[in-house]
Amino acid sequence: MSARIPLSDLEAWVSDVLIACGVSAVAAAATAEVLVDANRRGVDTHGVAQLHFYIPALLAGTIDGAAEPMILVDLPAAAVVDGQNGLGAYVSRFAMKVCCDKAATSGAAVVGVRGSTHFGAASCFSEQAARANCVGIVVSNSDPGMSPPGGLGPVLGTNPLAIAAPSDANGRLPSLDIATSVVAHGRIVAAARSKSEIPAGWAIGPDGEDTTDPVAALAGSMLPMGGYKGFGLAFMIDVLCGSVAGSQISPDITNDIENPQIQGTGHLFIAIHVPSLRPIQDYEASLERLSRVVHDAPRLSDSPPYMTPGELEASASRSRTVDGVQLDGPVRQRLSELGETAGVPFPS
Ligand SMILES: NC(=O)c1ccc[n+]([C@@H]2O[C@H](COP(=O)([O-])OP(=O)(O)OC[C@H]3O[C@@H](n4cnc5c(N)ncnc54)[C@H](O)[C@@H]3O)[C@@H](O)[C@H]2O)c1
Repeated sequence: MSARIPLSDLEAWVSDVLIACGVSAVAAAATAEVLVDANRRGVDTHGVAQLHFYIPALLAGTIDGAAEPMILVDLPAAAVVDGQNGLGAYVSRFAMKVCCDKAATSGAAVVGVRGSTHFGAASCFSEQAARANCVGIVVSNSDPGMSPPGGLGPVLGTNPLAIAAPSDANGRLPSLDIATSVVAHGRIVAAARSKSEIPAGWAIGPDGEDTTDPVAALAGSMLPMGGYKGFGLAFMIDVLCGSVAGSQISPDITNDIENPQIQGTGHLFIAIHVPSLRPIQDYEASLERLSRVVHDAPRLSDSPPYMTPGELEASASRSRTVDGVQLDGPVRQRLSELGETAGVPFPS
């Protein structure tokens, strides 16, 4: 079993590898911080493992590591940002900061992003807003990976949605972060790696039939969460990111490490500045009561306590901040190889 890596060592390594691949120091630092933030909270599918996709695209020039996001439309409570094909995490940190700054003076703001790339875990940016006293709402489109119910293959992306809100007086920060598919694509990749079955209902094989074989699922398609509801949500996320913010629509986005292309991914960020709407103490009291009612609700004796959104990740964060992160063997192996190629040895 591989050793745990302190989060600070992992973040420094990611930043150094990105710089060795031609990424600017600021974009490398932001991307490293975002990816390791996902690992810290236990969202390993969208942490440093994503370098496996980012580095071939950086080397092929379809992600521009030196790009600086550009504001195309600048209104008091709205903006449009062109990510210029830069690293999605860097572009998104920038766009959410613009959004929160505008919300602090206008009460609420929206920022659409076009010309971006995969940004990792959506909650990295909704929680950025929550730390700035805003409710943060984040959506993104992504390359097609999800079939409509009854379909034969992927049509839309697994377009994620995240909502986070400022923490209560006990520091509990509510944070929901979900793919619109039953689970994120990375969970099927992980099942294929560990040669374990996936539950029925997650995916279809290439023949359109439900499958529990992760290899068949990877050749087929993810299914939407909640049937037509999840697919409808993904469609509306494409309306926000593609049709409104001006990015590609998800059927036109590519993410192929063998043959990287310009992604043209879109995101949309919304920030609602809570203290502009009501005294923060009143907000906190309401949030505490909401969590308490949910935690205290009667349950079957064999059912574990219900976790409100973000509690699972907060628990992972507490332990990983102290103990570091243990990456699974194949991910660690791939990162070591990337490090060797870039001349930056993976932390031992
Ligand atoms: N960038 C992209 O293109 C893209 C696309 C799809 C998904 N993603 C990311 O993939 C990640 C994982 O998505 P997912 O849908 O597989 O996540 P998931 O199914 O693990 O659900 C995560 C959410 O559910 C809550 N949760 C988890 N287990 C719970 C439990 N037992 N009880 C109560 N609440 C619980 C968590 O607090 C969290 O808010 C997200 O970070 C998402 O942003 C990114």
